[in-house]
Amino acid sequence: MKLNIAVLPGDGIGPEVTAQAVKALKAIALEFNHTFILEYAPVGAIAIDTTGNPLPEETLDLCQASDAILFGAIGDPKFDNDPSAKVRPEQGLLRLRKALGLFANVRPVRAYDALIDKSPLKRHIIKGTDISIYRELTGGIYFGEKKLSEDGNTASDLCEYSRHEIERIAHLAFKAALSRKCKVTLVDKANVLESSRLWRKVVKDVAKNYKEIELDFLFVDNAAMQMILNPKQFDVILTENMFGDIISDEASVIGGSIGLLASASVGEKYAMFEPIHGSYPQAKGKGIANPIASILSAAMLLDHFELKSEADTIRAAVDKALRLHVTTPDINTKFDNITTSKVGEFIVDFIHNPKDSNLNFTNIHLGQSTII
Ligand code: IPM
Ligand code: MG
Repeated sequence: MKLNIAVLPGDGIGPEVTAQAVKALKAIALEFNHTFILEYAPVGAIAIDTTGNPLPEETLDLCQASDAILFGAIGDPKFDNDPSAKVRPEQGLLRLRKALGLFANVRPVRAYDALIDKSPLKRHIIKGTDISIYRELTGGIYFGEKKLSEDGNTASDLCEYSRHEIERIAHLAFKAALSRKCKVTLVDKANVLESSRLWRKVVKDVAKNYKEIELDFLFVDNAAMQMILNPKQFDVILTENMFGDIISDEASVIGGSIGLLASASVGEKYAMFEPIHGSYPQAKGKGIANPIASILSAAMLLDHFELKSEADTIRAAVDKALRLHVTTPDINTKFDNITTSKVGEFIVDFIHNPKDSNLNFTNIHLGQSTII
């Protein structure tokens, strides 16, 4: 298969982790005879520094001309600490999502057996957790009208949703549940918010088309509690933009590190793949950033084009890296010298030699899964 992939590494650790996902994609292309044409473009703070615009026209053009986008991370403390900044890196990502119509953000959350004791949550609570979060991504309070009074003392953000916006992601969530455990939980705040009451009504209507799916409702405050009390009760979680943002960071604790969580943002025409973590500027350039979320985002990209064996190969490589502690310090208590790029090298090596399951630790330190 020939794919044009736009690569937007962005800020902070974005370039380091994206580089590992790119290595994995190149190894897959080689092993499975595909042609992946990768083109790079700036986004976020780095794009503001060079062009004044967090999403330069050329970057958007490239994305629109590509089959898929691999995104790194954006954000820079120099903007976070300046509430009066008119231009912010995050605007680049939000504009990109909107311009490409990426209305559904899919965030899988799994408790990996190899990492179960890395989570601050107890083993028996998280073991076996497997959740797919469907977060609405182009509506709600993120994109509603924003106001700041002239005296600067009153501000508001409008949370608005239409039936159409709710329906289209609800269908995707129900379809996903059909090939999982057939359960959808709608997370909302219908006891307080009008927009949430519309979500309930529309989702109930959509559910009529999916008789085999059990539909459940939870208020977001309760859902936040249930997520750490009993995460196994969830299969597919369907929710609006901001609740999904918050709940998915919380859910990442189950996996042991936010550095493991990948995501796919899809619309009718375009698809973008990105880790859910941010730009983690404190770690930039230190070789300690966990590249697995980005590598698993590349696997989701392959899934999107129905390259299942290819995606499974990447996931198997990640499983093995976790089992053998070929991981960055956020989840590694055994070895302290495994860098971001070593994890990438190990994954590449596995892609080329998937059947070789030799556990030679000397070589693992060299980032190789084979005995020479
Ligand atoms: C995410 C991030 C973004 C969001 C930020 C960087 C704008 O937190 O993808 O979860 O809030 O959507
Ligand atoms: Mg977030």
